[in-house]
Amino acid sequence: MQYDWLDWMKKPLNDMLQDCQQQAEFFPQEEQQEILGRFRALTRSIKYAIQPATYYQAWEELIALQRYCRERRELLTLSIQDTEDSEVEPSAIEKDSTAISVAPYRPVPIGQHKLPPLRYSYDALEPYIDRETMRIHHAELHQKYVNDLNKAEKQLQNAREKRNYDLVKHWERELAFNGAGHYLHTIFFDIMSPGAGGEPKGDLRDQIIRDFGSYRAFKEHFSQAAEKVEGGGWALLIWSPRAQRLEILQAEKHQNLSQQDQIPILALDVWEHAYYLKYPNKRKAYIENWFKVVDWNRVNDRYDTARRVLWQPY
Ligand SMILES: [Fe+2]
Repeated sequence: MQYDWLDWMKKPLNDMLQDCQQQAEFFPQEEQQEILGRFRALTRSIKYAIQPATYYQAWEELIALQRYCRERRELLTLSIQDTEDSEVEPSAIEKDSTAISVAPYRPVPIGQHKLPPLRYSYDALEPYIDRETMRIHHAELHQKYVNDLNKAEKQLQNAREKRNYDLVKHWERELAFNGAGHYLHTIFFDIMSPGAGGEPKGDLRDQIIRDFGSYRAFKEHFSQAAEKVEGGGWALLIWSPRAQRLEILQAEKHQNLSQQDQIPILALDVWEHAYYLKYPNKRKAYIENWFKVVDWNRVNDRYDTARRVLWQPY
């Protein structure tokens, strides 16, 4: 069988090709040709795949290739900056310019998560979200999630080393609570901007209309879900790679009722600390005004990235 080739694949493949070409301009000529040759071969594998495994494997390799191009270019740029001041011994990755199948891998070491800096100042979302709420929310509460996630990871590492799991239940809960807190706040702060708002455009708008009927229906459903979260928690717009659809979910207390197979692309914090100074017991007004600072371009970027994750549908 041929996999639904012509329509939806053209844009992501062209975007990926353009991205790879841009990064590869910084590579040595020979490596540049090898990368683009590999890209064309993988594209052919996708186009003419007979078996599902071949199709998904080719997509995965293409995504790894794109990641490799970005990180290789970053390394080359850093390398040029370093050698302007001093002679630097090239790293193993720099020496091995053909290591396409082993894309650079830079995980956060255990217990070393960091608070992501904000892209704007604490008062930038005024008058919709006040400066003091933003400062407490980011500098104190998000920082605490990061600190406590690091602590939980180290405690669990310690438990593994000592083979003592007496407190594993406690630290697993801390890991879930603070991990969810760190990752969701990272999205929440990133998908807002001063002077944003309006309605989504492009691919995301089309998908919202496909899955919810209209932007109005989506916004109403999302707002109702946010308003009716019991206690603290979140409303999430997620892309489900399994169902190949957008969905709206509530995440009460943010470590509960969460589908683990999902990629949140829009996250609205309805814990009281996100709004109580300006909107005491008026969550509805906060939700309404929050839409005036949603940066749909950032959400669209997350959506485009999430769309590239491909799992076997069933
Ligand atoms: Fe929060």
